[in-house]
Amino acid sequence: MKALNLLPAWRALTVHHAKIRDVHMRKLFADDPDRAERFSVEGAGLFLDYSKNRITDETISLLLQLAEARGVTQRRDAMFAGEIINTTERRAVLHVALRAPRGTRITLDGSDIVPDVHKVLDAMGVFTTRLRNGGFTGHTGKRIRNIVNIGIGGSYLGPEMAYRALRPCSDRSMRFRFVANVDGADFNEATLDLNAEETLFIISSKTFTTLETMTNAATARTWLVQKLGSEAAVGKHFAAVSTNIGGATKFGIDPANIFGFWDWVGGRYSMDSAIGLSTMIAVGPDNFSEMLAGFHEMDEHFRSAPPARNLPMLLGLLSVWYNNFFGAQTLGIMPYAAHLARFPAYLQQLQMESNGKHVDLDGRAVDYQTGPIIWGEPGTDGQHSFYQLLHQGTKLIPCDMIGFCQKLSPYAEQHDVLMANLFAQAEALAFGKTEAELQAENSPDFQTPFRVMEGNRPTNMILADKLDPRTLGSLVALYEHSVFTQGAIWAIDSFDQWGVELGKALANVIIPELRHGAEPKLAHDASTNALISRYRRQRR
Ligand code: F6P
Repeated sequence: MKALNLLPAWRALTVHHAKIRDVHMRKLFADDPDRAERFSVEGAGLFLDYSKNRITDETISLLLQLAEARGVTQRRDAMFAGEIINTTERRAVLHVALRAPRGTRITLDGSDIVPDVHKVLDAMGVFTTRLRNGGFTGHTGKRIRNIVNIGIGGSYLGPEMAYRALRPCSDRSMRFRFVANVDGADFNEATLDLNAEETLFIISSKTFTTLETMTNAATARTWLVQKLGSEAAVGKHFAAVSTNIGGATKFGIDPANIFGFWDWVGGRYSMDSAIGLSTMIAVGPDNFSEMLAGFHEMDEHFRSAPPARNLPMLLGLLSVWYNNFFGAQTLGIMPYAAHLARFPAYLQQLQMESNGKHVDLDGRAVDYQTGPIIWGEPGTDGQHSFYQLLHQGTKLIPCDMIGFCQKLSPYAEQHDVLMANLFAQAEALAFGKTEAELQAENSPDFQTPFRVMEGNRPTNMILADKLDPRTLGSLVALYEHSVFTQGAIWAIDSFDQWGVELGKALANVIIPELRHGAEPKLAHDASTNALISRYRRQRR
């Protein structure tokens, strides 16, 4: 593959950036009254206004040329065709099959995988319905009212994010808890007030070997057996979601309560697989199907919309524009919806584990920046903590702002206030406030320099009608495919995660060194040895 910085489109973008980098959005809007209309696009229930970016038609045209030169659409088609695009793990990448409607064909090694997907969805539906209507009871015959999902990374962030996002359509008579951290405090706090007779643990782990999850699962098992006084209770109070059916069975989980998925689903792309079991129990099978329909609608949009009208491609290319040409280190995600409080954390794993890579697909060190740091908080909370730096700090921080036209609470006026803040922040970030404007407002001279807002801070505005299951599906798929687009431009493997392995291996060396009584001789570096020794002394 030709080096990225030798591509004509890349070179042209470098030259173009030098021309445009100091142009203010005030000028761009003044010179081009149709800009908002031209730089907005709609698809799969989402509206994207990307006019408040430091771009012109030429920018978009060059970014699209770059996408073409990097074969983004060919790589996309290879993904949908089940080719081994996760080359370092020798796996296909087929999360799009998880939401393919019944009857669609997606083949892997010549066989259609969609029927298997629906077999699992159907089994999840039967299990969910029995749980929700009281047909599935615990060891003592009581109805299950508490669901505790135990999992980490992709086996936790998606389920927790989706549960919070879809709470308005969840069964409010049930309680949902999510345990991820190996810190026993996480399990303790999640279960302190729960009645074991009414509690079901879902052990969610693609591999069924992850240290944190296996540790918490063992704790859950001990907790349950102690509370209910019988090993036989495990069968009635545990379910599992995994590709490792053998591991889940060995743990003692009733095979009827084990739901599988496949190695072609990456952990961070799995919230719409059986990993979404807690989501389905919360919102019911019909709402879960609606969420899958939203995912699928965005998949189809990504697959068929022309690049210039393709939401995920445009979002991905704009991220490349700031990351590689403006040198922006981070991307802020600001959902103006309390229900999306965990969405930034979800996108952190999706994007940073996917695109935080230092070598290209040929294994050569990249000489350009790859994935940005993703962070964020819901609006309006962030406005009263870190927005000061967005507005007047010295760093360029592009942000995605997300809002919904319909409210999810009975308080209509508050929704108007929320949306007013969303629009106002994007306006303030883009246009700021000049010295002349401040003087016209009689700002005291001594304050004027401090009150000037430079503006020219870019935002993407994503609007949808309502935060419902279908919209959530489209929104997540939008970001999945934006991540894909960026990975294709950078020619990296967005589907492996080798960087998490070393820390895991080192922890496994240190665990026995911390065990009470044993305290073997330490052979780490001087700092790690001293820290372990201090911990051994002080923990008592
Ligand atoms: O350590 C990273 C990771 O492998 C993630 O990719 C994954 O989502 C998470 O751990 C949990 O893995 P599992 O579902 O196999 O327990």
